[in-house]
Amino acid sequence: MARESESGLPIEPVYGPDALAGWDPAAKLGEPGSYPFTRGVYPSMYTGRPWTMRQYAGFGTAAESNARYRELIAHGTTGLSVAFDLPTQMGHDSDAPLAHGEVGRVGVAVDSIEDMRVLFDGIPLDRVSTSMTINAPAALLLLLYQLVAEEQGVPADRLTGTVQNDVLKEYIARGTYIFPPGPSLRLTADIFRYCTAEIPRWNTISISGYHMAEAGASPVQEIAFTLADGIEYVRTAVAAGMDVDDFAPRLSFFFVARTTFLEEVAKFRAARRIWARVMREEFGARDPKSLMLRFHTQTAGVQLTAQQPEVNLVRVAVQALGAVLGGTQSLHTNSFDEAIALPTATSARLALRTQQVLAHETDVTATVDPFAGSYAVERMTDDVEEVAVELMRKVEELGGARAAIERGFQKAEIERNAYRIAQETESGERVVVGVNRFRLDEEEPYEPLRVDPAIEARQCERLARLRAGRDRAAVDSALTRLAKAAEGEDNVLYPMKEALRARATLGEVCGALREVWGSYEPSDVF
Ligand code: 3HC
Repeated sequence: MARESESGLPIEPVYGPDALAGWDPAAKLGEPGSYPFTRGVYPSMYTGRPWTMRQYAGFGTAAESNARYRELIAHGTTGLSVAFDLPTQMGHDSDAPLAHGEVGRVGVAVDSIEDMRVLFDGIPLDRVSTSMTINAPAALLLLLYQLVAEEQGVPADRLTGTVQNDVLKEYIARGTYIFPPGPSLRLTADIFRYCTAEIPRWNTISISGYHMAEAGASPVQEIAFTLADGIEYVRTAVAAGMDVDDFAPRLSFFFVARTTFLEEVAKFRAARRIWARVMREEFGARDPKSLMLRFHTQTAGVQLTAQQPEVNLVRVAVQALGAVLGGTQSLHTNSFDEAIALPTATSARLALRTQQVLAHETDVTATVDPFAGSYAVERMTDDVEEVAVELMRKVEELGGARAAIERGFQKAEIERNAYRIAQETESGERVVVGVNRFRLDEEEPYEPLRVDPAIEARQCERLARLRAGRDRAAVDSALTRLAKAAEGEDNVLYPMKEALRARATLGEVCGALREVWGSYEPSDVF
């Protein structure tokens, strides 16, 4: 009797040669680093270079986060990943009424170039690659990063990193949007064009399925809705007059790794094959780099439990193994205490050590795509691909990702799946160790890390000093030039950079854009 996978697909108790009857390895697999990239995006994969160990971190003021980044670098992390607090993500200054109680809580507070300077103090920006999880105001944080690099004497063409810059999934799952879809997609295209011209090695977007998965999406929904978002972004940039091979090599993706790691390996391999085909057949991309789905993975936060938190170390290790066997380029492993509070220094180090054990004590970096040719994983890869392509066709019938979002389609589909998961957990059909089986009568006490509430006051004092010490007239005229560009067709990143250089704050820049573009109001039409 076949078991059902997370995507509702059959997992047979035994797979044999008939599972791959008529299956053509040349067409389905190709060589590692070659079309359709099923086996991975580079010919040598981890035998050439292990994945980037990129731990998402950030809290409090820039000084606290800078200390954590230096600690992670000292412990061997090979890429930075900045978490911003909600006011920064929503384009509000730390002293805005809306920001009260959120300053420095889920990430670092960045209000201006001065905070960005402190955030990267003592970190050579020509020697690290930095991911920034920022969407609606992605352009601002990218420009602040470039301005601080300029002050370090690092030219823009040496900078490597990524801005998430994926607002479509914010409308579907995460919610940190500011502007309506039209202006948001214009900003995305402006960032593509700006980076092609000014910061050529920068990854301009991290098209994310992770947050949809955290909201309840199945593996098939995760890759289908994410790739449909990717198609929307490519169409937007092509419609804005860009050649697909000018920007597509710098698109990147971001997925989750669940504990059900066989289907996760199949999911990653299917996603690479679908994307390669779409980019070649729908968009006529010719540069092989335009066909490569390069991605970051984070282990599944929603599968961490607050009960018996140490059990999460095992879940994270299994999930990380799935991401690596699935060919991820960059990986964040969750800390075991994250279901309770912000990671402590110890739990953050343990999360990194998990990756280091996989990279340096196991043999998973010795050979490329070890599951290739496996009856089970190749069959599951084909099954996931078939159902994902079918779901992408449904989104296409609705007019594409943006039109489907505006009808609430993806959100409704994900919520239906989330409800099924909740029911199965409630009934015990879905086992969650320590939660609905193998429970403890008495949970052991655990002392989490708490963010100092005085941080908000300190950050507001910094803002007051910044405003008192700058040339207000210069800021106002820069913001006026920005607003004019937003009203017209010019790339807004150029006047935006001058405003930020003059020490305009993040809230003032986003405020100037809100004046012109308005704010997005979700329509609950499902
Ligand atoms: N052979 C040849 N070259 C290789 C190689 C190999 N085996 N392995 C790596 N390389 C090269 C690459 O070509 C690249 O060179 P290039 O920049 O000149 O092209 C360089 O080595 C670095 O390799 P990658 O680009 O593969 O690895 P990176 O780590 O630099 O980039 C990425 C990975 C996925 C492309 C990039 O977009 C990235 O780092 N993304 C991270 C996104 C992220 O961290 N997001 C966090 C989100 S957290 C969040 O959303 C909130 C929370 O609530 C979930």
